[in-house]
Amino acid sequence: MNSAILSDVYINPEKKSVETIWKDGHRSIYHVTWLRFNCRCKVCKRTVIGELNIHRSQFPSDLRINDARLTKDGSFLELEIIGEVIDGHVITIDSGWLKSACYCDQCLQDMLQERTLHFVDPTKVEVPKIDYNELDTQKGLLNWMKQVIDIGFVVIQNVPLEEGACIKVGEKISPVLQNTYGKLFDVLDNQSTENIANSQIWLPLHTDQCHYEAGPGVQLLHALQFDDCVRGGESLLVDMFYVLETFRKESPEDFDILCKVPVPFGTIDYQRKNPCHLYTRKPVIVTDYDDQIVGFNFNKGIEEPLRIHAKYVEKFYQAYNKLDRMINRNEFVFKHRLRTGELLFFNNRRMLHSREAYMSNGGRRRLQGCYISMEELRSKYVVCARLMGNLDVVAPKIGNGSAV
Ligand SMILES: [Fe+2]
Ligand SMILES: [Zn+2]
Ligand SMILES: [Zn+2]
Repeated sequence: MNSAILSDVYINPEKKSVETIWKDGHRSIYHVTWLRFNCRCKVCKRTVIGELNIHRSQFPSDLRINDARLTKDGSFLELEIIGEVIDGHVITIDSGWLKSACYCDQCLQDMLQERTLHFVDPTKVEVPKIDYNELDTQKGLLNWMKQVIDIGFVVIQNVPLEEGACIKVGEKISPVLQNTYGKLFDVLDNQSTENIANSQIWLPLHTDQCHYEAGPGVQLLHALQFDDCVRGGESLLVDMFYVLETFRKESPEDFDILCKVPVPFGTIDYQRKNPCHLYTRKPVIVTDYDDQIVGFNFNKGIEEPLRIHAKYVEKFYQAYNKLDRMINRNEFVFKHRLRTGELLFFNNRRMLHSREAYMSNGGRRRLQGCYISMEELRSKYVVCARLMGNLDVVAPKIGNGSAV
């Protein structure tokens, strides 16, 4: 049975909406304005991206349904309305499309459910790995992106020990993004005063580049040299979405405070080679219309002084410190020592990362990094999966401020 076949339609008494009954028993309600603005007749349907065939502002605000009917085979809904601006126009919507766009509570719930992240326990799951030589096959490419979508990161092994190799890896998915530190940056102890990453000091868990409206999506860190004699320097990764879901359950009031209070992030440096003045203000946790966690901003190292209303100051620090303690719990932390030739590839809008302190002991630890777009990765992942026959794959949540 094709579940997207209509079996009945009723106009509600106010003539402001219709209820449709589907062959599988599902019931949907569609509002007259929604139906008019989503008409898929030959005149109204968009056939080219960006095209606009319905001029909403020309319509009166009080549209009403005059007539609603189904075609004989139940594959089209047709409506005539009071307030139409095109002579003789009949709203025509194919049933397959109409069903897929249903906005009843159950369908909205399913839409969010399908995109919900599934978390793994770092104490039970090994660090995901893939070999560099697999990246150029369709199967390898899909597997690579799937690890990042499912777990938030992957370690790519046997990457050639060449300058800029991480750019070549990144460009297999998306163009490399410009950032405060250029396109390609080194992470090594070079006595630089630009960033603490260029030292041997421990780095707290953080997400990069919070001083922008949106930080870069994917970060690549390629170990060009990580000598065995170097003591320490392990990489740590934490799925912040996992932490935040737990935090919301354990401390709902603190969670709300961190959704509300704006934290200033800045990188202001007039002494560096390319002086910069970057500053923005946003809350630690970002939720959306459906109360889904859709993003976060977490980097104590580039926070600027908090300037908020007095009644929130103590509450904010208490909530923040609770969260800060939580992210370090064993149940959340992946730990991995990069080997020379390994490349850490992770979603910077989902995974916090850090590095333990190290002592070089006469050796060297040198990483090279760049960023690419996580949205391009997701797009490529969905296209690739569907072209390979997995038509049911959905675009999951990736931390870009949206739940869908
Ligand atoms: Fe970082
Ligand atoms: Zn139309
Ligand atoms: Zn529905």
